Amino acid sequence: MAWETEEAPKPGITRRQWVRTGLMAAAFAAGAAATGTGVLVLREFLPPPRPAPGTITESLLYTAFPTSQWWNDKANTPVKVTDFDLWAGATAVWRGLFDDSGTLVAGTGYPVLVLRVPRVDTYYALPDPLPWMLGEGFALAYDDPARDIRIVAGFDRCTHLCCFPGWHVVSNPPPSRDYAVPPPTYDVYHEDPIYCICHGSQYDPLLQVVNVNPHVTPAINYIGCMRVHGPAPRALPIICVKEQGGALVGGMADPRWYIYC
Ligand code: FES
Repeated sequence: MAWETEEAPKPGITRRQWVRTGLMAAAFAAGAAATGTGVLVLREFLPPPRPAPGTITESLLYTAFPTSQWWNDKANTPVKVTDFDLWAGATAVWRGLFDDSGTLVAGTGYPVLVLRVPRVDTYYALPDPLPWMLGEGFALAYDDPARDIRIVAGFDRCTHLCCFPGWHVVSNPPPSRDYAVPPPTYDVYHEDPIYCICHGSQYDPLLQVVNVNPHVTPAINYIGCMRVHGPAPRALPIICVKEQGGALVGGMADPRWYIYC
């Protein structure tokens, strides 16, 4: 299997670099639990969070990526809905703690993958949002018919072993195309799905489904981007979003969607 090698000499980020980045950023999940109401589950396993001065924002803010990317010079600024070309994606943080100088405090917030998909309902599926408590104005994706913009935001922690899946930033090894489920993102648009290079999992941003998170008690339903290639066992949870002043704001449907790392 290509993923079993640690050697990745071609241009771009390697699997080893990716895993190292993931380990360095692994505290994101702990920060998420400490700042969100999901603290109840993880508190038993974590030391109490140190109080830190600063501001937590509900807006999604760009985060710099380890390799050169189009959004890197926007780090720590709001993710604007008009920033994205079709199929463009970026990394961001939601509920991150920013100190008084405007710098993100390491280990805080929820890592997020934001990407723009086509507004073609033929190949786009999502659950009925009505039964879910999404919060006022929030939706399963940002959708603007007037500007023909649809943006999906996902929690950027793989449901396999909690690496950080990416969007079109890693090609070595390339994602496998022996999908468990036909992904319209690739089959129709010839774009690779969300890809976790650690062991090859993939998720389709066009297919939002209801899955079960077994890592909380009791297990809970959540909405996520469908897992179309293992070893991930289930969907990548979405972040509900709405626009405020041209920027994307995240909404907490249920903190237990994100507790599994
Ligand atoms: S952690 Fe993502 S595929 Fe294993």
